[in-house]
Amino acid sequence: MALLQLAAASFLTVAMLGGCTAPDAGLQAEDKAPVPTHYVMDKHSFARPAEAVATHLDLDIHVDMEKKRIQGTATYDLERQSGDSVVFDTDGLNIESVTLGDGSTAKFTMGDSTFMGRSLAVALPQGMNKVIIAYSTGANAKALQWLNPAQTAGKEKPFLFTQGEATLTRTWIPIQDSPGIRITYNAHVTVPADLMAVMSATNPQERSTDGSYRFNMDKPIPSYLIALAVGDLGFKPTGARTGVYAERSVVDTAAWELADMEKMVEAAEKLYGPYRWGRYDVIVLPPSFPFGGMENPMLTFATPTILAGDRSLTSLIAHELAHSWSGNLVTNATWNDFWLNEGFTVYFEHRITEALYGKDYNDMTSVLGYQDLLANIAEIDSGAHPEDSALHLDLTGRNPDDGMTDVPYEKGYAMLRLIETKVGRPKFDAFLRGYFDHFAFQSINTDTFTTYIQKELLVPEHVQIDLDAWINKPGIPADMIIPVSKNFQQVDTQVLRFKDGSAAKDLDTKGWGTFQWMHFLRHLPAKQDAKRMDDLDATFHFTASGNSEILAAWLEQCVKNDYGKAYGKLDEFLTNVGRRKFLMPLYQELLATEKGKAVAMKIYAHARPNYHSVSQRSLDELLHWKEGSAQ
Ligand code: BES
Ligand code: ZN
Repeated sequence: MALLQLAAASFLTVAMLGGCTAPDAGLQAEDKAPVPTHYVMDKHSFARPAEAVATHLDLDIHVDMEKKRIQGTATYDLERQSGDSVVFDTDGLNIESVTLGDGSTAKFTMGDSTFMGRSLAVALPQGMNKVIIAYSTGANAKALQWLNPAQTAGKEKPFLFTQGEATLTRTWIPIQDSPGIRITYNAHVTVPADLMAVMSATNPQERSTDGSYRFNMDKPIPSYLIALAVGDLGFKPTGARTGVYAERSVVDTAAWELADMEKMVEAAEKLYGPYRWGRYDVIVLPPSFPFGGMENPMLTFATPTILAGDRSLTSLIAHELAHSWSGNLVTNATWNDFWLNEGFTVYFEHRITEALYGKDYNDMTSVLGYQDLLANIAEIDSGAHPEDSALHLDLTGRNPDDGMTDVPYEKGYAMLRLIETKVGRPKFDAFLRGYFDHFAFQSINTDTFTTYIQKELLVPEHVQIDLDAWINKPGIPADMIIPVSKNFQQVDTQVLRFKDGSAAKDLDTKGWGTFQWMHFLRHLPAKQDAKRMDDLDATFHFTASGNSEILAAWLEQCVKNDYGKAYGKLDEFLTNVGRRKFLMPLYQELLATEKGKAVAMKIYAHARPNYHSVSQRSLDELLHWKEGSAQ
């Protein structure tokens, strides 16, 4: 009976409400926050942690690169408060058996399929606190991207990577998949002997002889941060605590590009306290990785499109590193609170890059971010959910990915900058440092943050700010500080000259870096004939640019102006690169005309199999794609 009720229950996870139970973590790494007894509702998980919560995962899996399947066991230690079952999330998994800690077979029930997967409820006798779930992944596990050798740099060996955030970990591990629930894990992973495996945990630096690897993450993390990559990997250190993994043919290039990693960790620690995770490594993945970066603890996953050859795109690493505090140490308790992860991280990222590269650099990235924000809000305003430009969202019944726009990033950042300006940097820094220490290894929601900042900073400092408007209302509040960049003023002058008819070669572009070029490309006249485009390309060689940001911004102009000469490059870029941020605007721009739409559908038909499910989902929706609708 109890099991039937569980099976029928919809999303009932209650995520931990931070700040009530755990003491301050202090400066020395105090890794084990007590298991909380207060939780807030997470509508995107079936788990019921207030009744039974998994505190440790022992994963034992085999990765079959040929069958494109993961098979093995997930063994959980549980802490129980009430009830006679424990509920996990699954999505597309084959659950083969469930065994209890005493070796007996457990009764389990799976709920109906929903857009967030299926619940797995395991009946527990009194006092039982261990379960072993034997399972395998399904054919289209959304977290997993299995790459054929042709999709890799080396072209000889297959590759696998996982992407857990937001709710995809349940597609490769049966788990309580809510960011409000934290877990430690260790893993035994076997892979073909000619490949190496790495995880968001302690990692090998060399290939094992038999394809067997062991990992340990002894700090409690949310499930979306459990990650695995398998491929023909090499490793190269970039400092005492930092290093780079990549396919062996890429590892030297990647290590050169990311040479500043060690300095970034030092700068971050100087700002907001010790880096608590041991090593900080980055793995540069094949180009189909759907994001720029993903902050998997101890091992950031990154796109190779940051390898510009001039180290100009490495602020992305500062961003993912900053998540080691904002996100991984202090975590959004539900996906409605996603801005707590990303807004703080963009702020922290800017502080790291300012320390390394100076204020002018930061002013430029702030302006570019603001441009993204304005464009994104305009889009949101004309869509089905204009309320999505608030920081705190209600994503009930929706895929949490829908809330992952520029708003939590750039509006969140703008709010923190405003508060920084009002209280002054020293006080704001002291507050942030205290915030990270106070909530270390906890998951908190927006209310907990608001209460904390009122009490610790805004009230004592007599700061007037309408937090409710910033957090709960859509749009851009009137008191937002609009960023400006003196480097861009000079670019604006050249844009005007070009608009007035100057030839490209007569423009003064001396000393321009990536950001100036991005700003320039974003502000070219909306319509120009092929001759002007020819002139730009012959002078500045955009189509041949090895810098993905410059190339993507240029290709957008090419589509806008139907500049046919660049369509070969466009096809190549859209086929090889799976980073959603680049794909969406290009396909969107193509859709503006009938001719462009035909080009988009044709490219998508052959490019789609190269994309991760995350990018496929967004593009299927944009292009109204139906399987079999290839042109
Ligand atoms: N955590 C995000 C990536 C993410 C967001 C994954 C939403 C799944 C759902 C990561 O830290 C991130 O923000 N990446 C950015 C780069 C950054 C420099 C803004 C990206 O991938 O573009
Ligand atoms: Zn981020």
